[in-house]
Amino acid sequence: MIRETRLTLGARSTRYLEAGAGWPVILLHAFPLNADMWRPQLEQVPDGWWMIAPDLRGFGPAAEIPSGGRPPTMDDFADDVDELMDALEISEAAVGGLSLGGYVTFALCRRAPSRFNAMILADTRPQADTPEGREARRKMIELVHARGASAVADEMLPKLLGSTTRNTRPQLVATVRQMIESASVDAIAGAIDAMLGRPDSTGDLPAIAWPTLVIVGAEDGITPLADAEAMQVGIARSRLVLLPEAGHLSNLETPDAFSRAVADFLQSNM
Ligand code: MLT
Repeated sequence: MIRETRLTLGARSTRYLEAGAGWPVILLHAFPLNADMWRPQLEQVPDGWWMIAPDLRGFGPAAEIPSGGRPPTMDDFADDVDELMDALEISEAAVGGLSLGGYVTFALCRRAPSRFNAMILADTRPQADTPEGREARRKMIELVHARGASAVADEMLPKLLGSTTRNTRPQLVATVRQMIESASVDAIAGAIDAMLGRPDSTGDLPAIAWPTLVIVGAEDGITPLADAEAMQVGIARSRLVLLPEAGHLSNLETPDAFSRAVADFLQSNM
């Protein structure tokens, strides 16, 4: 059973979903989604594990964005996770994320490496944006201010979901669209700004000393297999799982295979 909790961290109210009991696993969501994207994994938590999926700052139902504040940075997102771990009395955990969630995981790894006993990096990459990538992000900030979240959904859906999903699972396409459209303009623009400004984490890979699972959808066009292979080579105690018929949102597109890969990893490493 999935439990939903709202708590106050500093001056901000935030929400997290959780399921199971035992060793903690923290799962961080992709852009521009929210913790609900982890529901398929929270519905099948392996015995002995406690999965926790927080909304990143600004995302999720009834999210609060401090008015007049500066946009968040990747470090702010990571510090929020660190603060949540304190609030839940978790000293260390298997921490992971998908795409943006992976970028936040890298930031947390830089700021608080003692928080990790394992890592899950799904459909993500350590590199910073290229100059062309930054330019595209600036255009998307303009787009969301001019035309709102649904224009971002129009642009992103064909990239987020693989061709198998787009051709065969209209219900999932609609669910992801709805999740994107529920995000506020400020949350979307803020997260784009954070991604645009994130540093390159490639040099941090050799210091990752704990077991790491790298997962990638075979149809992921945003962070393709080559990125996952490079991460796997760069992290000593890592293994790579390739999920057929999944695109960038591999945990939603092939939920059972994704959950099985996570369960096998947790059970064989911890
Ligand atoms: C995500 O899925 O979080 C985003 O596609 C990441 C990105 O745009 O770099």
